[in-house]
Amino acid sequence: METSIEKITPYDEFNYPIPEAEFPKAGMSARAAAAIVISSEWTDANPMLNMSSFVTTWAEPEAAETAKRNIFKNYIDHDMYPQLFAMETRMVKWLHELWNGPKGVEPYGTATVGSSEACMLAGLAHKWNWRQKREADGKDASKPNMVTGGDVQIVWKKFLRYFDVEPRIVPLKPGNYRLTAEELDKYVDENTIAVVAIAGQTFTGEDDDIQGIHDWLDGYEKKTGISIPMHIDGANGGFINPFLYPDYKWDFRLPRVQSINASGHKYGLVPPGLGWVVFRE
Ligand SMILES: Cc1ncc(COP(=O)(O)O)c(C=O)c1O
Repeated sequence: METSIEKITPYDEFNYPIPEAEFPKAGMSARAAAAIVISSEWTDANPMLNMSSFVTTWAEPEAAETAKRNIFKNYIDHDMYPQLFAMETRMVKWLHELWNGPKGVEPYGTATVGSSEACMLAGLAHKWNWRQKREADGKDASKPNMVTGGDVQIVWKKFLRYFDVEPRIVPLKPGNYRLTAEELDKYVDENTIAVVAIAGQTFTGEDDDIQGIHDWLDGYEKKTGISIPMHIDGANGGFINPFLYPDYKWDFRLPRVQSINASGHKYGLVPPGLGWVVFRE
């Protein structure tokens, strides 16, 4: 059988349509591939004008240059690229400090593709913690639920569905578009893995009543002996509250707050996509 390169059908850049549903039969020149990608992306949104999906519109040229220099690195290979991992670890420590994590504990967390991945990891950690505790107490660990507000971002609905956690979503009502403690007694119980409160919700930019929810959960523990942790979704607020409202307690200063996520790419100067999840300890 002849297998010489000449026998491979050359890709006719001009006449052969890009197949939609089957693997292309032949390759093409880099120039043709670039032309196709560039002409296809032409009608996509211009990131400079896209304020609606909370991504960076501009970055310093040094950021773009540094990204380009590192484009061939498989970041997850920490053996090969230990300095990159050291940078990530350093940033987790910075965030733990920025969000007022307790001193003297080892900060624990990770960079992620965005808050969506960070929320999934945080949700899973809460699910496993809850399950471990239930099993240690000899109790049924088959019906986890998570409580959050109707202002919750879609990623949490994905988390609940993918990871089989019952959604307990407190509905919004006219005049109140955030989660408060008001109706928690109808939603929280021994199977609640966490209450997720938002710092900087997607619809109005408001924070949920984080302190009110925290204090209500304290009272709930006093009454029932059940201790329920909080996760703060700081996708939007995580890099705003510490700088604009340093005295406002929305973070690890509240003991029930066990984990916080934030997006790097929602504030400027960070090309998409970067997120963080940081655990109290
Ligand atoms: C409150 C909230 N949580 C999570 C996300 C998901 O963030 P990302 O786009 O970084 O995955 C968003 C995005 O808009 C958000 O507003």
